[in-house]
Amino acid sequence: MKDLFGKALLDYQNGRYTEDIITSTNISEEDDLPLPYLFREFKEMPKLEQKALALAKGHILDVGCGAGSHSLYLQEKGLQVKAIDISKGAIEVAKQRGVLHAEVKNILDESEKFDTILLLMNGTGIFQELVGVSKYLTHLKSLLNPNGQILIDSSDIKYMYEDEDGGFWMDMNANYYGELDYFLSYKGKQEAPMKWLYLDFEKLQLACETVGLTCELILEGEHFDYLARLIPA
Ligand SMILES: C[S@@+](CC[C@H](N)C(=O)[O-])C[C@H]1O[C@@H](n2cnc3c(N)ncnc32)[C@H](O)[C@@H]1O
Repeated sequence: MKDLFGKALLDYQNGRYTEDIITSTNISEEDDLPLPYLFREFKEMPKLEQKALALAKGHILDVGCGAGSHSLYLQEKGLQVKAIDISKGAIEVAKQRGVLHAEVKNILDESEKFDTILLLMNGTGIFQELVGVSKYLTHLKSLLNPNGQILIDSSDIKYMYEDEDGGFWMDMNANYYGELDYFLSYKGKQEAPMKWLYLDFEKLQLACETVGLTCELILEGEHFDYLARLIPA
């Protein structure tokens, strides 16, 4: 990984913002990911994220924290937060912005216990593909204190396969439609392709059942997105 995502965050943080990250997927054209969005304040966050932050309690783990916007908000509210990310640049930025406990770490290498685990901005993305979901959910469950909760958002992206006549063009024999190949470029450089998973709520609920988690729908967003709370069954 070239960590172009982290480089972009570092550029923005250090006054070198000249262009945005460009993303695309195997089913969608190039799109800008505006860097300022990754530095959003509470009032600029989607309702789903604001709700997740309102529900966060106790010792909190912010998984895939990026620039640390959610961690900073919670920390300022007096809560104890640990922020982790696999991106070195992201963790450097989170630290520069004042996140007190930020570490370069893959969620699968985390072993502390928490009361709340946050996975936001399509939190299921880090599961990468459907076949990996139980492994990640089982691990996340093992990190919960008694009465702990996982707050995670995602979207049902079936709409991306809809044609102008309202029909769907997805190949029913192909893999799950939420499994995407994700491409990112920044300042003319291309990151290694990644897998990124969007899970519809029913699929997430089903996967939770198989690993002994109860999955509750907390809030639906305006565009097929949702926030779910997972607790041990
Ligand atoms: C879409 S960004 C979201 C950033 C941040 N949560 C936000 O809302 O602005 C996803 C983040 O997850 C991180 N990530 C991906 N896989 C991860 C893993 N296995 N463990 C920890 N972080 C991961 C990426 O480096 C990236 O910073």
